Amino acid sequence: MDKLVIHGGHPLQGTVRASGAKNAALPILIATLLAPGEHVIDNVPELVDVSFTLSLLGRIGCPSLIPAEGGARVRLDTTRVAFSEAPYDVVRKMRASVVALGPLLARCGHARVSLPGGCAIGVRPIDQHLKGLEALGCRFELEGGYVNGVVEHLRGAEIHLDVPTVTGTENIMMAAVLADGVSVIHNAAAEPEIVDLACFLRAMGARIRGEGTDTIEIDGVPALRPARNPYRIMGDRIEAGTYLVGGAITGGAVTVERAPVAALGPVLDTLRQAGCEVTVDGDRVHLRRDGDLRPVDIETRPHPGFPTDMQAQWMALMALAQGTSTIRETIFENRFMHAAELMRLGARIELDGNTARVHGREQLTGATVMATDLRASASLFLAGLAARGTTEMLRLYHLDRGYEKLEAKLAALGAQVERVPDDVRVRTGVSADDRAAI
Ligand code: EPZ
Repeated sequence: MDKLVIHGGHPLQGTVRASGAKNAALPILIATLLAPGEHVIDNVPELVDVSFTLSLLGRIGCPSLIPAEGGARVRLDTTRVAFSEAPYDVVRKMRASVVALGPLLARCGHARVSLPGGCAIGVRPIDQHLKGLEALGCRFELEGGYVNGVVEHLRGAEIHLDVPTVTGTENIMMAAVLADGVSVIHNAAAEPEIVDLACFLRAMGARIRGEGTDTIEIDGVPALRPARNPYRIMGDRIEAGTYLVGGAITGGAVTVERAPVAALGPVLDTLRQAGCEVTVDGDRVHLRRDGDLRPVDIETRPHPGFPTDMQAQWMALMALAQGTSTIRETIFENRFMHAAELMRLGARIELDGNTARVHGREQLTGATVMATDLRASASLFLAGLAARGTTEMLRLYHLDRGYEKLEAKLAALGAQVERVPDDVRVRTGVSADDRAAI
């Protein structure tokens, strides 16, 4: 396994390009199961989770082709579905595979999908997924850690979600598009990735209205076909937001191009409140921070609220603010594991249930830290970039799930980072040279 070694204290300067959105790519790649034939999807990020998704589709009988030269175009052939199963060894590594349930039921009339189980940030149940699919006529049995689903006849229904679940909304959408009649999903998730999935389904012939609001209406159609033109996945708003926080936390000037600006609203506004100068020019977002960082309280909310996937990054930033800020995590029950690791870098944080109080300070100092989940690891590399001296971050595989070409992008911004094998000894903290530089 590898770790990331970060020599901090250098302001990030320069331009990076946002990759395709992980949380749009995963459901869109799986949605190709709904339309037999050849699909071409553009702007697919090269991430571990995308590889997991393509290997799942391969095991279902749908081979994919990625150009040898890499790049973001994926060809998928979903003509044949040999197995309507998402096995435990795939789902346990990537819980988003659970969105294969709806498309497999719609395509094959049956599906066997491993229960995803919990993860570091929470229990992550799928009761709302099953509730919505049952309303469409599916029947489920839970046996041996698997959900076994069958459906004779998918029929449209009114569905009221108790929770605006993102992947739950996606699972239900991907069955409803081939149901007989009209479906309405109330209290639907409104995240931009839902909108991107709806646009892709529409490109395959689905009839959908209201995506991006809490009420999505779908007129089922008898069949879908592959989109006529390559479908381009939206830019990753969380990756873009992470690099912008990188500019803010190091007191630099960062431009993110190909950013999904409309989807970044709550993050850009909060960065401005913290004292950053943020301007937008088409799909390019420019951030500069040379004054003090102001403490800004946040509360995570479903879109268009402040995204939970940016909460850990925000906590790192607030660790260097001039004052105390409050962070409330309202989406997941255990999404503060990065706090303890940030404290190893000198952050002063008090936790009380789903609320964290961050007492900002002048400086953080490099140390060895351990990533626990994808966004926690983003928070730690951001703090390491700002900290004096050297930080090493263990369990780098978490980052590789959601940040494409991370070192190259950080190096393009002037960061001094390197990926080394775990067993390489690294002196962390502030060296004599660093002290001399203070
Ligand atoms: C999606 O996860 C994202 N993942 C997550 O991003 C993101 O944090 C989350 O939405 C919230 O925005 C993908 O899109 C692949 P939820 P999802 O179902 O759909 C409860 C990242 O870092 N709930 O919206 O699994 C659940 O317990 C990842 O990229 C139920 O109670 O999240 C949680 O408290 C992390 N019953 C809340 O809803 C259900 O049936 C939101 O979960 C489903 C969810």
